[in-house]
Amino acid sequence: MKHLIDPTDLTKQETEEIIDLALDIIDHPEKYAEACKGKKLATLFYEPSTRTRLSFTAAMMELGGNVLGFSDAQNSSVSKGETCADTTKVINCFADIIAMRHFEEGAALVSALNSHIPVINAGDGSHAHPTQTLTDLLTIKREIGRFDNLTIGFCGDLKFGRTVHSLIKALSRYEGVKVVLIAPEQLRLPDYMKKEVCEVNGIPYKEVTTLEEVRPQLDVVYMTRVQKGRFFDEDEFDRVKDCFILDSEKLATAKLEMRILHPLPRVNEITVDVDADPRAAYFRQVENGKNVRKALILKLLEWAHDKDKKSVLVPADAVRNEFVCRNPRCISNMEVNVDSLFRPAADHPGEWRCVYCESKPK
Ligand code: CP
Repeated sequence: MKHLIDPTDLTKQETEEIIDLALDIIDHPEKYAEACKGKKLATLFYEPSTRTRLSFTAAMMELGGNVLGFSDAQNSSVSKGETCADTTKVINCFADIIAMRHFEEGAALVSALNSHIPVINAGDGSHAHPTQTLTDLLTIKREIGRFDNLTIGFCGDLKFGRTVHSLIKALSRYEGVKVVLIAPEQLRLPDYMKKEVCEVNGIPYKEVTTLEEVRPQLDVVYMTRVQKGRFFDEDEFDRVKDCFILDSEKLATAKLEMRILHPLPRVNEITVDVDADPRAAYFRQVENGKNVRKALILKLLEWAHDKDKKSVLVPADAVRNEFVCRNPRCISNMEVNVDSLFRPAADHPGEWRCVYCESKPK
């Protein structure tokens, strides 16, 4: 059985199979109208969402299946102290597949470790958002036509932006990809991403503090919102919240074929006058999200019965209960009965990374 917890849980070939299936679904939706008849998707959302939850719901409905779940965990037995592991075991009695969003980093992994049905990570804290990545890849495929030889600028909150982390991981498998990291000092991409993802995969990256200096070079600019809820210090948020604002005037120096992506929601980082520009792809991206989630549900349900399709949730060289994670939002620090799990770091022999959230030990 396959789960989708991190974009690298899918091989490059499996990722492309899902993108190709999504393209066929877009062309022939009627072929898939009953493909999930009799199947149930559980959407377990511990954190707010509009696009991800409703696109999963619409996707399953358009496949002829049913949806159950919660969008406010406080109305579930989570409010009585039920753990993520126990909730997962309960939902296994009712559904065929789970999509989970959680504010604790590593929650989807804990769910998968306790599940006999496929688990999809619909966003875990600041860590990963692999179904947004599939959405972004389908959008790049439809708008630009390729993944190779792309120069992509990530702009805004690269520290807490889980969509950025997941998309960089997915694109790091392609030839000729160059990454431009546009962020203030306080919101730079975490070191483990630069070292273990970009450097290990030979992806050139540069860090800049203004969009203006790199805009003409970009094939894609991936804008992000500065997320108040992820900051530990409100003054720090106030200092950086308006760091990048893209408006029509600033697009004058961008390539005509450049595309603007944004996982949404936006606050003020893209002004509404940009929406009418053909380069603004972010609402088309939302529609792609529904179709790629249809393809993902179909593939994970198909692979659930395939003995050759297996997720490696915990690497063979991981150690249990030897260290404590330094990330206070890691599920290993927030829930009872979650063993600490660390794997050797890919970039630094002798260093360790938390299997749930990729942070270092204390
Ligand atoms: N892009 C995204 O994850 O949006 P929601 O938070 O609305 O689901």
